Amino acid sequence: MKITIITVLILGLLSTITARAESLSNDRIELFRTMGKNMKIISQADNAKTALMAAKTLDKIANKLSTSSLWPVNSGDGNTRAKNEIWDNLPDFRAKFKNLREATKNLKEIAALGNLKNTQNAFRKIGRTCGSCHRVYRSPKK
Ligand code: HEC
Repeated sequence: MKITIITVLILGLLSTITARAESLSNDRIELFRTMGKNMKIISQADNAKTALMAAKTLDKIANKLSTSSLWPVNSGDGNTRAKNEIWDNLPDFRAKFKNLREATKNLKEIAALGNLKNTQNAFRKIGRTCGSCHRVYRSPKK
């Protein structure tokens, strides 16, 4: 009887932890998807104002995604594409987010000057910061 109760308790605890990790990765994925959408808006924008709004959103999301509460230790694997290598190389992972934040901040500042062409040129540099992290810390699509 005791063993059954303990087993039930442990199973309950485990599923709570799994559910939490899953919802965290859903939050992350949602933010990444919105970031992808705003990248598309910038690349297709036909006026500086639209590009500026998307650049501001990108910068906000880059900051949000960098918060460590979205990346608790070993919240990779399972349904997420986050590799567990992230938590073996946390300083490097953080540095890559810092590069992203610098790139989106720079983009936002250029976009605020109101020249669409310059904004789209600055935008092209951002793709590299996305790829440099994905190559190391994101596993292929499941
Ligand atoms: C510091 C690392 C890092 C940077 C920088 C980064 N990503 Fe990601 N990205 C990840 C990781 C890790 C995942 C997997 C997250 C998960 O599944 O929990 C991911 C997932 C994604 C996804 C997949 C969401 C889905 O549908 O599964 C998209 C889209 C994405 N990133 C877009 C971007 C774009 C666009 C940029 C640049 C503007 C970017 N990322 C920059 C690490 C990064």
